[in-house]
Amino acid sequence: ASTTEVDVSAVEPGQAIKAVFRKQPLFIRRLTPAEVAEANSVNAGTLRDPQTLAERTKEGHEDMLVTMGVCTHLGCVPLGAAEGEVKGEFGGYFCPCHGSHYDTAGRIRKGPAPTNLEVPEYAFTSDTVIQVG
Ligand code: FES
Repeated sequence: ASTTEVDVSAVEPGQAIKAVFRKQPLFIRRLTPAEVAEANSVNAGTLRDPQTLAERTKEGHEDMLVTMGVCTHLGCVPLGAAEGEVKGEFGGYFCPCHGSHYDTAGRIRKGPAPTNLEVPEYAFTSDTVIQVG
């Protein structure tokens, strides 16, 4: 299986970039302290797909959210990873196809999507580079 290396050094808090992993969109987003706090303020046990932000990120890099940019409902590309796009009611991503709202940890909060945005297998190979896959 192929891997993808992404330099994340230029991603500022509050910004996201789009990459491609195995021909599918990949979202890489550096959360602001407020977005981290928002994600951690939720009792994960109450969520449709219960996961904490810590479970969805790497230790020491809790502000770097790496997810597939593929809605888990029927596979549309959610909005929110590009400048000026709507992020939905929970400040993360919004899928306009049928109205799925994801939070700042990429977790499904409202709408038909059954599960959180998928976190692919990845690792930091340095402080600023991730290898996906
Ligand atoms: Fe995203 Fe249906 S494909 S809400």
